[in-house]
Amino acid sequence: MSENENIRILAIESSCDETAAAVVVNGRKVLSNVISSQIALHTLYGGVVPEIASRKHIEKINQVIEQALEEAGCALEAIDVIGVTYGPGLVGALLVGVAEAKAIAYAAKKTLIGVHHIEGHICANYIENQELEPPFLCLVASGGHTHLVKVQDYHAYEILGRTRDDAAGEAFDKVARAIGLGYPGGPKIEKKALEGDAEAIPFPKAKIVGSPYDFSFSGLKSAVLNYINGCRMKNQEIREADVAASFQKAVIDVLVEHMMHAVDEFKIPKFAIAGGVASNQTLRKAMQKACEKKGIAFYHPSPIYCTDNAAMIASAAYYEYRNGTRHGLDLNAVPNLKLGEH
Ligand code: KG4
Ligand code: ZN
Repeated sequence: MSENENIRILAIESSCDETAAAVVVNGRKVLSNVISSQIALHTLYGGVVPEIASRKHIEKINQVIEQALEEAGCALEAIDVIGVTYGPGLVGALLVGVAEAKAIAYAAKKTLIGVHHIEGHICANYIENQELEPPFLCLVASGGHTHLVKVQDYHAYEILGRTRDDAAGEAFDKVARAIGLGYPGGPKIEKKALEGDAEAIPFPKAKIVGSPYDFSFSGLKSAVLNYINGCRMKNQEIREADVAASFQKAVIDVLVEHMMHAVDEFKIPKFAIAGGVASNQTLRKAMQKACEKKGIAFYHPSPIYCTDNAAMIASAAYYEYRNGTRHGLDLNAVPNLKLGEH
């Protein structure tokens, strides 16, 4: 393949509660990015219900793909590669996307490439930062993952640290539920926190002895729940905005601290964030400030590319394609797929 050849990728993402398809050229130029969110449906149950997610993906997937091709002004014949998330995620949800991608690849004789969901989140940074190239450090914080990653090259990742228990987004979701804000918690806590005092309640910031890059958020979540229960027992008013702001600050402080530690150790002057939590404006501002202080570049995707989408999967599929990754029709969903495995 020549460097100048244009590779058009149709990608599919269905690992959790968004059914998404996108057409992207050479990993960076988005021609379409269609997302059908199931959030409203899952809100009724306070979180994602896997069986319902799978069923909804089946209902929506063909429509979403057709729309992605139409908006891109691109016929299926003009597509070179079908990219699809095959893990990690909910197995039933992943299977819908994988089966669809295999069917299209088989029927239309296209190259098939399975993509790791977190690799997709990281690659979301390439879409709007055309100049960004590895190596860089990246914090991926979503509902299922909190990983600090050294991106050594396209498709070459070293995980420096990860959460030992809850993911950052999961902590946002659980705390939001506890203070009655509903699902998904991240955006609701962020909004509520704007009216609160982040210094009001000193919540704990966990450190893991001997593992400076690992995270733990379950202790913080329990501290918030204990605080709320304590207020109820003492008949004290629960100032939701202060709880939200203080909790959010505790999460952000830990994320920024870990990131600065990695910047100092690895001396890589580029830091990126990714995943649903990366759409948090207060977090972005704190990271921007910390990066400015160190004199390093800070990258983040627009919110639409932070939460689950298929454009990021197409971007990752492109770099896998260039690296020679190809999958056969025996590709299967791998719910606990590790980063760097094929
Ligand atoms: O990346 P994503 O869409 O899905 C996963 O791969 O998990 O991330 C969803 C997570 C949810 O936990 C949601 O509460 C969190 O990202 N999130 C946020 C914000 N927007 C979404 N967390 C904090 N602040 C936000 N603005
Ligand atoms: Zn995700």
